[in-house]
Amino acid sequence: MQYFKASFIFLTFIGWSDARACNNSPELCSKSYDRVTYLGAHDSPFIRDASTSYSSFGNQFFNTTTQLNAGVRLLSAQVHVAWNKKTGTRELHLCHTSCALFDVGPLKDWLFDIRVWMDKNPNEVVTLILVNGERIGARELESEYSRADIAHYGYVPEHVAKAPPPSNETNPTWPTLNSMIDSEQRLVSFIAPLTPDQANAPYLLSEWDFVWENPYEVTDPSNFTCDPDRPHKVTMSNAIESGTLFLMNHFLYWQQAFGIQVPDSRIVNTTNAWEGPGSLGAHMLRCSNMMMRQPTFVLVDFFNVGPAIKTVDIFNKVSKPVGRMNVTGRVVDVGMDVNSGGRSAGLFTVMVGIAVAIAGGWNILF
Ligand SMILES: *[C@@H]1O[C@H](CO)[C@@H](O)[C@H](O)[C@H]1NC(C)=O
Ligand SMILES: *[C@@H]1O[C@H](CO)[C@@H](O)[C@H](O)[C@H]1NC(C)=O
Ligand SMILES: *[C@@H]1O[C@H](CO)[C@@H](O)[C@H](O)[C@H]1NC(C)=O
Ligand SMILES: *[C@@H]1O[C@H](CO)[C@@H](O)[C@H](O)[C@H]1NC(C)=O
Ligand SMILES: *[C@@H]1O[C@H](CO)[C@@H](O)[C@H](O)[C@H]1NC(C)=O
Repeated sequence: MQYFKASFIFLTFIGWSDARACNNSPELCSKSYDRVTYLGAHDSPFIRDASTSYSSFGNQFFNTTTQLNAGVRLLSAQVHVAWNKKTGTRELHLCHTSCALFDVGPLKDWLFDIRVWMDKNPNEVVTLILVNGERIGARELESEYSRADIAHYGYVPEHVAKAPPPSNETNPTWPTLNSMIDSEQRLVSFIAPLTPDQANAPYLLSEWDFVWENPYEVTDPSNFTCDPDRPHKVTMSNAIESGTLFLMNHFLYWQQAFGIQVPDSRIVNTTNAWEGPGSLGAHMLRCSNMMMRQPTFVLVDFFNVGPAIKTVDIFNKVSKPVGRMNVTGRVVDVGMDVNSGGRSAGLFTVMVGIAVAIAGGWNILF
């Protein structure tokens, strides 16, 4: 009897250690892609750390690789055309509003960092949202993916320009995380705006065919709302019926002089918390009740504070996440925790930003 009991425990233990964890949890493997909530790092490559002299325009305290290590599974960024200063050739860079203001380098280099991470973490499904204000074509974007050797991870849906109907427990309309991992199509790329090119880049999806969003330009914690804002003319009822996935923006801007707005880190511990006024948890509960469905994506600034992942775990019913790095809590305030060199560099960026803003007459959002 003792022997049987011991071997039963032993086998159970082996079975456990063999169980695959998908996106940090064995419980998520059998869920379809659209029935999981993914924590997103808004403006993932724009960092407020020593590498940017603690730029007040930075949206995150940790880089993309650390974000992924800590459980972030959605990364947003902006793609712009930049001209190589030495060769004069056209390149695609990740820039904040304008490459004259905040240029963090070529898109392909960032994609390469993500590929390296995905190679090392074979059971993880990652989603990208690329803002493409300059309407760069699918083929040019695809060549960056190919140069970073990440294109082969691209998820190609059955219909490249139409969301499937909403999934439910008995009728999944998106693949499960397990099947995306098995087929190695575990990078989902949404680009806004984009004219899809099924022949040359079937894995580059037009965001507005698959996703809808609430407003993103919020400066007061009492003003977070679940109302549809993009794509243009979407209503709550057609968003729900169409099966398009809800991306919940949940971050605050701090209004500065000359129409400039920077990510607001002042009360981010409440903004990204499970509960409290203007919190992530309260906002997600409100929207989920309205839609009878949990948001698929939530996008936050300074993701490590809150910690935002806690709310996402609660919605995903993940009680024991595995394989995550803990970078919870670190906050760097604008103009604080910065040596004098860093501060003057930050001020310089602000001055350049103001000059460009006045010249361009833009409403600048960072
Ligand atoms: C990201 O940041 C970590 C330290 O937080 C650093 O060790 C690592 O080299 C950085 N990775 C990239 C790709 O920049
Ligand atoms: C699941 O979706 C299918 C197809 O849309 C529908 O027929 C079925 O009633 C749904 N089941 C539940 C439990 O909502
Ligand atoms: C909050 O929303 C209300 C109603 O839409 C608006 O009047 C107000 O100006 C907003 N407040 C801020 C600080 O944006
Ligand atoms: C956020 O930080 C402030 C100041 O440090 C503190 O008073 C407040 O209790 C914190 N809020 C949460 C939700 O932790
Ligand atoms: C992560 O680190 C923070 C701060 O050091 C700590 O309070 C928290 O308990 C840690 N979380 C986990 C899940 O270990």
